[in-house]
Amino acid sequence: MNIKKVMIIGAGQMGSGIAQVCAQAGFEVYLNDLKPEFVERGIGVITKNLTRNVEKGRMTEDEKTSVLGNIKQSTNLQDAQNVDIVIEAAVENMDIKTKIFAQLDEIAPEHAILASNTSSLPITEIAAATKRPEKVIGMHFMNPVPVMKLVEIIRGLATADEVYQAIEDMTKSLNKVPVEVNDFPGFVSNRILMPMINEAIYTLYEGVATVEAIDEVMKLGMNHPMGPLTLADFIGLDTCLYIMETLHEGFGDDKYRPCPLLRKYVKAGWLGKKSGRGFYTYS
Ligand code: CAA
Repeated sequence: MNIKKVMIIGAGQMGSGIAQVCAQAGFEVYLNDLKPEFVERGIGVITKNLTRNVEKGRMTEDEKTSVLGNIKQSTNLQDAQNVDIVIEAAVENMDIKTKIFAQLDEIAPEHAILASNTSSLPITEIAAATKRPEKVIGMHFMNPVPVMKLVEIIRGLATADEVYQAIEDMTKSLNKVPVEVNDFPGFVSNRILMPMINEAIYTLYEGVATVEAIDEVMKLGMNHPMGPLTLADFIGLDTCLYIMETLHEGFGDDKYRPCPLLRKYVKAGWLGKKSGRGFYTYS
């Protein structure tokens, strides 16, 4: 399989990061979102990251121009007819994802791979919305995408070996490290990370320590680059809640019950960094 042209669905935090690393690796990229202003915002973030690379001497101005030249703005799913792979990074919602995959299945060429950057939803169920489940796969990048080395690759029940191999090769060409996992709620990354974050929120909820103290213990005591409550704000509290709900429902075990404080914050619209307030406030 020769992958040259890529479409990224969703120009938010994850989608724009994926578009950046694909464009830097020389792929032709369509960055797609519902409205032109969403795509422009994503291009703005990419431009800022590339400018920092130029300032730090890691890239020339010409290379920056060439990377940006690899990205086409798109607000029309029909552009999927031109690509070899689509990587979907839309919101974490099964109904929305299955609708997008059903549409892409009609539009994308027969050989095209349909990948999802879902952080916890079953790939097998997303694949069932298409008539090409053997070409559907999970490609889970970590945030911030330009910095983090891991891509968790999730095989659905029907994913073909050559599709897995093509995605592993593509991941390496993005200068990332692929790790193969099977399709289970939360895969490996969020099955382990999210219960830790949820437990940190319970620790706060039960008054064991302050926000700052909890983060300090995990940073200085466990050498984590950021504390779990800072990390939760950084990921987005709505995303954390959604993933905990997926684990709770998927395993049916109360050890995955989302902390009531997490629910309360999300109901209040305190979604973390992106909304200006979560466990911390952001200006
Ligand atoms: N985009 C691009 N580059 C970024 C960035 C971003 N959003 N944030 C930081 N960086 C770059 C900085 O520019 C800096 O680069 P330079 O060396 O050129 O200066 C470098 O990363 C280090 O940044 P800082 O010095 O500002 O801060 P730091 O040392 O604390 O590193 C961090 C920042 C890499 C984010 C680090 O704090 C970290 O590793 N945090 C944990 C991240 C993590 O756990 N990610 C996984 C989240 S879970 C997930 O993504 C999966 C899911 O499904 C929810």
